[in-house]
Amino acid sequence: PQKRNWDGRMLCQYQNNWFPVRDFQGVLSCQKNFQANETDIILATMPKAGTTWLKALTFSILNRHDLDESPLLTSTSHDLIPFLELDTYRDGQNPGLENIPFPRIFATHIPYRVLPDSIPGSKCKIIYICRNPLDQFVSHRFFLLKNRLQPEQDPLSLDEAFEMYCDGIHPFGPFWDHMAEYFQAGLENPDRVLFLKYEELKEDIVSSLKKMAGFIGAPFSVEEEKQGVVEEIARLCSMKNMKSLNVNKDGKWNGIIENSSFYRKGEVGDWKNHLTSSMAGRVEKILEEKLSGSSGLTFKNY
Ligand code: A3P
Repeated sequence: PQKRNWDGRMLCQYQNNWFPVRDFQGVLSCQKNFQANETDIILATMPKAGTTWLKALTFSILNRHDLDESPLLTSTSHDLIPFLELDTYRDGQNPGLENIPFPRIFATHIPYRVLPDSIPGSKCKIIYICRNPLDQFVSHRFFLLKNRLQPEQDPLSLDEAFEMYCDGIHPFGPFWDHMAEYFQAGLENPDRVLFLKYEELKEDIVSSLKKMAGFIGAPFSVEEEKQGVVEEIARLCSMKNMKSLNVNKDGKWNGIIENSSFYRKGEVGDWKNHLTSSMAGRVEKILEEKLSGSSGLTFKNY
């Protein structure tokens, strides 16, 4: 089945999840063809959970020998780390994988149950970042309004968009299944799936970076810690720094999305400026119901 999302673009349902129709061929092609290597690192997220930040941090951990000359200063995170379904397999065939050096880093919004078998089936590592669904919804609303793909269609109101979100009808949704499945995978295979929260990264980026580096087998040495390498990566990848770089101010990703629209506020709790407390209560109730089987997955500071 297909439905029109509130911003006008079509979504289709597949294996109980909703996908943008324009990205669906890439999802299927990736699911069918991608062969993970055991050294691969897969960055998995819902759109607007902090993908751009996670890409910059992971890239920097692995390329920390010369942060002053980091490719992040002249290329966007999305140019450096492709999305499996949106870039590498976008056109189905010829993914050009042979040009990517090992260890390969890919990003994906694909839900856990729709991943190509070779990802859960190999020893590759998955880092998942999860974000308070209210902030994610608000972030996504701004992002899609700024990058209208169907400008001829009037977008639906905030209330109507929120209704669809609560019904799980949104790109790569439902959000509760997306986060719960990766969370569960992390509980079952903690050395293969690292489950992080955007809010925790905001609260303590240094500890988060150390956790990530250890997880991907590239822990910081005592010497590096003394030299302040962790703090340097945090600074390089900070919202303030990334947003100020020309490469992130100009140009478009995939020719359609403004690079600058990946950097808006980067704060925790911005939903309070846009949504009512009864809307928040509704999401809280959905999470209580839907995540009741996922012990430990909670969100504080609504
Ligand atoms: P807001 O719209 O709430 O500001 P994604 O990268 O998954 O598309 O998510 C984008 C969200 O992450 C946006 O949230 C954006 O501002 C925020 N973001 C981007 N880069 C960031 C960074 N370096 N630090 C913190 N947040 C960042």
